[in-house]
Amino acid sequence: MSKHDKIEKNVSLMIVLTIVAISFGTLVELAPLVFGDQVKEPVEGLKPLPALALEGRDIYIREGCNTCHSQMIRPLRAETERYGHYSVAGEFVYNHPFLWGSKRTGPDLARVGGRYSDDWHRAHLYNPRDVVPESIMPSYPWLFDNTLDGDITGRKMAALRSVGVPYTDEDIAGAAEAVAGKSEVDAVVAYLQQLGTLLQMRR
Ligand code: HEC
Repeated sequence: MSKHDKIEKNVSLMIVLTIVAISFGTLVELAPLVFGDQVKEPVEGLKPLPALALEGRDIYIREGCNTCHSQMIRPLRAETERYGHYSVAGEFVYNHPFLWGSKRTGPDLARVGGRYSDDWHRAHLYNPRDVVPESIMPSYPWLFDNTLDGDITGRKMAALRSVGVPYTDEDIAGAAEAVAGKSEVDAVVAYLQQLGTLLQMRR
């Protein structure tokens, strides 16, 4: 009986060896993430979102934009040709929660910042078919009517600071003023326009 036969015919031994093999594989994958700096170090120039963009991000989540749009460009030619530089871990260290996603009903938005004008985004959010006739994206006209008061923006920043996002006391103190009176669409556009702008490698 070969060694392999022995293993295959002994269930307990098979279970033990399977656990050893899977644990080893898991460690090899996880250890670099836990002990390496690559996933914890922000990319150069990364700053926490300004108050208005932070509110925009919350509206983006509220409206479920992330259910149709991923924010993660894979390091594959087809992706980098279309969207730009692949995403790197250091771009997301201040994201709580991250919005990578995997479902792409619409295009990836990881590097959409600066690709269109603010006016384009506003027209597109009001009614996507006005600028992209074949679009199936929903319209978001209420973003133009709803106004932000900024009452809890500072508290959101303080909460993020408690999990490591380096907001300063001045950021927090000035948050309400930076946001109050702006419309929700202003906030969403501010959020979209900064997405992925630190690493540009477009054609
Ligand atoms: C039901 C799925 C769906 C939802 C929800 C959705 N989108 Fe879209 N989005 C699309 C599709 C499809 C396109 C491509 C057609 C177009 O440009 O309108 C698109 C395109 C876009 C584009 C242009 C991207 C590019 O590179 O051309 C932006 C920006 C965008 N969406 C932002 C948003 C925002 C912000 C929200 C939430 C307020 C949102 N989308 C919600 C499906 C969706």
